[in-house]
Amino acid sequence: MSSLMTAGVAGRGNLAIRRFPTLTVQTPRLDVRPLTVADADPVTDIFADKQTQRWLPFPQEFGEIEGRSWCTEMAAERRDSGMGDHYGIVRREDQQLVGCLWTKRTDWVGRVTEISYAVSPDARGLGIAPEAVDVLALALVLEHGFQRIELRVAPGNTASRRVAEKAGFTYEGLLRNAGYVHSGRVDLEVWSIVAADLR
Ligand SMILES: CC(C)(COP(=O)(O)OP(=O)(O)OC[C@H]1O[C@@H](n2cnc3c(N)ncnc32)[C@H](O)[C@@H]1OP(=O)(O)O)[C@@H](O)C(=O)NCCC(=O)NCCS
Repeated sequence: MSSLMTAGVAGRGNLAIRRFPTLTVQTPRLDVRPLTVADADPVTDIFADKQTQRWLPFPQEFGEIEGRSWCTEMAAERRDSGMGDHYGIVRREDQQLVGCLWTKRTDWVGRVTEISYAVSPDARGLGIAPEAVDVLALALVLEHGFQRIELRVAPGNTASRRVAEKAGFTYEGLLRNAGYVHSGRVDLEVWSIVAADLR
């Protein structure tokens, strides 16, 4: 399929809808790659974890995230709509899936996207999320033409705030009443890396 579909009459005012680029990135110890159906079980476990449940950016009514669907149709829908993609973080030494990253809310005109993340409880505290977020953000900016990558962090999620700091993002401010965690609506801190930061 073409990565660029156009809506409307050819010429001025066309809305370009892009399929989100399929990308794989690596660090010496991690691979970040699109999820497949084979990842369904560890993905279900990561999303079922209590801490992940507490901070997931969805209302509780959204229900449990089912790994198979997250890895297949939900990922395909997000990719095909151009809004983002669902990635696994794989530890290269033993090929274990130790975390999930996902891009969302992509604005192709502004060239902006947002990254979210969750790491398996037994792999936390090892710097996996900041390393994976950093390498994904670099690829999006340097290889795929994004100008700005955002993270949104619910106040009180100290571990997530540390990920933003360690991945080199800059704190910009607090978006009021901007989204959900499981317990209800919350303000969200916005953090960013922009293309100029990487020069
Ligand atoms: C936020 C999260 C992804 C961090 O991933 P990580 O790979 O453990 O990141 P780090 O190793 O850099 O640790 C970040 C912070 O977590 C805390 N931390 C350290 N060890 C930890 C452990 N064993 N368990 C939980 N948190 C720990 C510390 O505050 C650490 O900051 P520090 O480096 O200044 O000590 C992970 O805690 C997680 O999956 N949380 C639930 C999901 C979530 O909140 N996602 C973000 C919103 S969608």
